Amino acid sequence: MNKTCWGVILAAGQGKRLSTATGGREKQFLRYQGAPLWWRSVLALSASPRIHGLALVFPPDKKTEAEAEMRSLKKANPPGVPLVAVSGGVRRQDSVRLGLAALPRDCAFVLIHDSARPFVSTALVSRLALALDDTDGGVIPGVAVSDTIKEVNASGAVARTPERSSLRAVQTPQAFPLELLRAAHARAEAEGWEVTDDASLMERCGHTVRVIEGDMENIKITHPQDLALLSEAKPALPCCGYGYDVHAYGGDRPLILGGVTIGGPFLVRAHSDGDVLLHALMDALLGCFGAGDIGRLFPDSDARFEGISSVILLDRVLSLAAEAGVRLVHADLTVIAQKPRLAPHAETIRRNVARLLDLPLDRVSFKATTEEHLGFTGELRGLKAVALVTALR
Ligand code: CTP
Ligand code: MG
Repeated sequence: MNKTCWGVILAAGQGKRLSTATGGREKQFLRYQGAPLWWRSVLALSASPRIHGLALVFPPDKKTEAEAEMRSLKKANPPGVPLVAVSGGVRRQDSVRLGLAALPRDCAFVLIHDSARPFVSTALVSRLALALDDTDGGVIPGVAVSDTIKEVNASGAVARTPERSSLRAVQTPQAFPLELLRAAHARAEAEGWEVTDDASLMERCGHTVRVIEGDMENIKITHPQDLALLSEAKPALPCCGYGYDVHAYGGDRPLILGGVTIGGPFLVRAHSDGDVLLHALMDALLGCFGAGDIGRLFPDSDARFEGISSVILLDRVLSLAAEAGVRLVHADLTVIAQKPRLAPHAETIRRNVARLLDLPLDRVSFKATTEEHLGFTGELRGLKAVALVTALR
């Protein structure tokens, strides 16, 4: 196709279905990647070598402002084709008609695009423009529907179930020979037709419109749930934290590990409850966001922490982690003790830690080992714990 082809980008709607979620802001003016949403369509369409210019249709009362923004965006990132701004109308079809009126005399084909579909690809634009060569009435993108569609009457009763394999959910851009589309819009005006897309207008005028494969990603931002697609949250980065703690035997605290009371003859020396496992775990968590250690957070010179349950301290550390945007995904914990034998308690400890961390059981590992009678654990002078946690930040 060597004839001139322009795009009309519709950005004159009110976005009523979204207005509560956007605080009244029309969706095409929401910010996305440092520019208003409609600019995305400018970039996608203008990048196709088959597009020779773009007409942008804005709400009449916002046109001056939008045009000023268009000028500065154009300066920073020239789209390489002329851009013209036009005032839209009350209904979508009015905006299309007004957009068509602004196209230059030598323009032979037009692609009508909803700026509410910001994820349109340049490849789709080129495919449509290319397919115009083989059609008389126009080309539109469509995707197979995954839901069974029912036609219902006013009272909600099913009137008909169309064969799903013959159905397509259609998108924009929709591509047409300009003069045919202009004539169709003139006829709609004269006869008072109401349509939701340009293809239906062409069909009504007796033209054959062909559907080519659209893109699943070419979604129309319509309902509040769709706004999540515009959120530009940075991907979470994985991080690890390591913790190590030791407690001596010969104190007055019964042995507690991972919040589980083990009891027995080995009493622990500690300011808090002396849960060496949770202490290592807390230090590992704090390590994920460089927040120091539990000695700094809960000093043993502070009477408030005298005999305190480490479960309470862990709760505090988990809140700090959440505030820092750290989401724990896995914990691997080991206690090193010659005595008592911990194997009988291992599963109880693992389950309890998983519960405290609010993690599924398969994301928490607990091991117990000895140091073969070597060192201070081997001499029954105390026990130690190490923790390695993985988190997303
Ligand atoms: N549109 C337009 N002029 C109108 C109505 C709609 O240019 N008078 C544009 C919208 O800006 C949008 C596209 O047509 O890019 C598709 O319309 P829709 O998704 O219905 O958007 P809105 O009409 O803005 O939203 P709503 O129907 O929820 O009010
Ligand atoms: Mg609408």
